[in-house]
Amino acid sequence: MGYNPLSLLLHWFTVLWVVVMWVAGVLISRWDDAPDAVYDLHVTVGVLGLAFIVYRIVRRILRGFAEANPGHAGWERWLARAVQWVFLAALSVSIITGVIKTFLGTSTQYFLWGAEVPKIGRVRLGEAGEWIETLHEIAAYTLFFALILHVGGALKHVVFDRDGTLMRILKPSSPGK
Ligand code: HEM
Repeated sequence: MGYNPLSLLLHWFTVLWVVVMWVAGVLISRWDDAPDAVYDLHVTVGVLGLAFIVYRIVRRILRGFAEANPGHAGWERWLARAVQWVFLAALSVSIITGVIKTFLGTSTQYFLWGAEVPKIGRVRLGEAGEWIETLHEIAAYTLFFALILHVGGALKHVVFDRDGTLMRILKPSSPGK
C-alpha cells in the first residue's frame, strides 16, 4: 500500500514550502543587508502555508505511514522511518517557534504586499526569545540534514536498486495512506 492522492499533494506542497522557507531563512541569517522582501517572503509564505502543513502533520500522525517495502533491508526501513519522524518533529518546532516570533515577539513583520502582520500580543520574550530563535535555527538545519538523507535514499532506490520505490510518492494508491 502506498499513499492516496491527497497525501501526494500534501507531500509535494510541503517540499515546495520548505524549499522557499529554507532558502529565505538562510538568506535572512547569513546576509546582513538582506532586502526586506526576503523577510517578507519568509513570513508571508510561512503564514499562508501554515494551516496546510499543520493539517499534514496531524493527518500523518493519525493515519500513520504507508507500510515499508519488506524487500528493503532492515536498516533502510528503520532509517527511512526515523527520517520521516524527524521531518514531522522539525516541521512542528519550526512552525511553533516561527509563529511565536511572528505573532508574539516585539519585532514588526510585514506581508509581501506591505501590510503589517497583526500581533496577538507584543510580548517581550527576553531570554526565552533567544531560545526560541535558537530552536528555530536548529529545526531549520535538522530539516536540511533530514532532507539530504531522504532524497539520498530515494536516489539510491532509483539509481542502484531500481525497485520502483520513488513511484510510491509519484503515483497515487487506492486505498492508500
Ligand atoms: C520549514 C520551515 C522554516 C524554516 C526552514 C525556517 C528557517 C528560518 C531561518 C534559518 C531563519 C533565520 C534565523 C536567524 O535569524 O538567524 C528564520 C527566521 C524567521 N522565521 Fe523562519 N523558518 C521556517 C518556518 C517559519 C514559520 C512557519 C514562520 C512564521 C509563520 C517563520 C517566521 C520567522 C521569523 C519571523 C523569522 C525572523 C525574521 C527576522 O529576523 O525578522 N519561520 N527562519
